[in-house]
Amino acid sequence: MSKKVDLSIDFLGVHCENPFFLSSSPVCHNYEMIAKCFDLGWGGVFYKTVGINGMNECSPRFDNVRKEDCGFVGFKNMEQISEHCWQENAEIIRRLKHDYPTKVMGVSIMGANEEEWALLAREMTKAGADMLELNFSCPQMTSHAMGSDVGQTPELVEKYTRVVKQNTNVPVIAKMTPNISHMEVPSKAAVKGGADAISSINTIKSICNIDLENITGMPVVNGKSSISGYSGAAVKPIALRFLAQLKMDKDLANVPVSGIGGIETWQDAVEFLLLGAENLQVTTSVMQYGYRIVEDMKDGLEIFMLEHGFTSLRDFIGKALPNIIPCEDLDRDFQIIPEIHDDLCVRCGRCAISCFDGGHQAIEIEKDTRKPIITDKCVGCHLCLNVCPVLGAITPGFIKWKPGRTPHDVIIKHTYDR
Ligand SMILES: Cc1cc2nc3c(=O)[nH]c(=O)nc-3n(C[C@H](O)[C@H](O)[C@H](O)COP(=O)(O)O)c2cc1C
Repeated sequence: MSKKVDLSIDFLGVHCENPFFLSSSPVCHNYEMIAKCFDLGWGGVFYKTVGINGMNECSPRFDNVRKEDCGFVGFKNMEQISEHCWQENAEIIRRLKHDYPTKVMGVSIMGANEEEWALLAREMTKAGADMLELNFSCPQMTSHAMGSDVGQTPELVEKYTRVVKQNTNVPVIAKMTPNISHMEVPSKAAVKGGADAISSINTIKSICNIDLENITGMPVVNGKSSISGYSGAAVKPIALRFLAQLKMDKDLANVPVSGIGGIETWQDAVEFLLLGAENLQVTTSVMQYGYRIVEDMKDGLEIFMLEHGFTSLRDFIGKALPNIIPCEDLDRDFQIIPEIHDDLCVRCGRCAISCFDGGHQAIEIEKDTRKPIITDKCVGCHLCLNVCPVLGAITPGFIKWKPGRTPHDVIIKHTYDR
């Protein structure tokens, strides 16, 4: 396909050939990995968080949540920051910047006090970082002076951001924790300290499974386990919610955001862009499927843009934001009664079972044909559409006005393609 669209974007004044970056994690913690991801087409990385000393990690350190018929949807890790000291990481970053001058080297850093933040900011800038990302958000640090405990304390976020700004001349991004009800509060503190942007989200505190063999959490570390970070497809809804809340806050609306959390496909990427993200970061789907997923993400994004007549990313970044409104402002005048398409229905009966046991008992199964029939009891909740295993077999049908409401134009979603 001839290129009529431009996937490049200037993020914080740094030219990125595309918005797809690896997020700080084991997917980008040494020279060989990052060289490979650059060769395969990623626009940049946020290098695995560099601390002063290497971490002492536990084993095993991963667990997951599964649904039948698919890989895992959610992933838990008990890993901290880099296992190497800052000097070793600085050398790797220096080599990568020299060998890949057009790729973007973001470097994630984390200190335990002002001196450490200052040293890391100075040394990573000297090593060639194009941007610094401040890790205020790892939820499983063994020191409470680091990670999400800091990210939940606006005063510390502001103080450490200011120290970093005083010790670097490259853009500074504060990476926020979702283990908080209002991310806007520490985000504003970061901006007050001089942050140029926010990245969101880091992982969500979790216990994925209890091991029935050892009567403990998973993963089992010598019979014990810990609360720690959850990521992957399962966290995308939470990541999108935080992104929207940041972009809809009047004081933060103009602060650029790098979107993270459950990005697996080009559709996920477009969703983050439509809610205002200017840069996209990925870890868990790379851990599951490898660096090559970037090829599909770039192709899909390009086709989406061609189909919609967008020539640059900025043509549609943030375009969905005006359509996210408070619950109390939603139009509640009507019910959209679903339509079951006989030609696609496989007569499995799942719509009727869910509607009877979990809905409004509005679907009957025709005795001889097993055909589902929607009755007058339907309230238009669309549980049937959500549980139907055949894409497109149940779609929104007709509008039924509630008594006393005045009919007006209504926008309806007609196609469900995933
Ligand atoms: C194994 C693992 C290690 C991680 N290490 C870091 C880290 O060192 N620094 C950091 O800022 N985030 C770290 N993260 C968080 C990711 O960068 C990312 O914010 C989170 O996983 C959500 O994105 P995802 O759903 O694409 O994985 C780590 C995540 C995982 C799964």
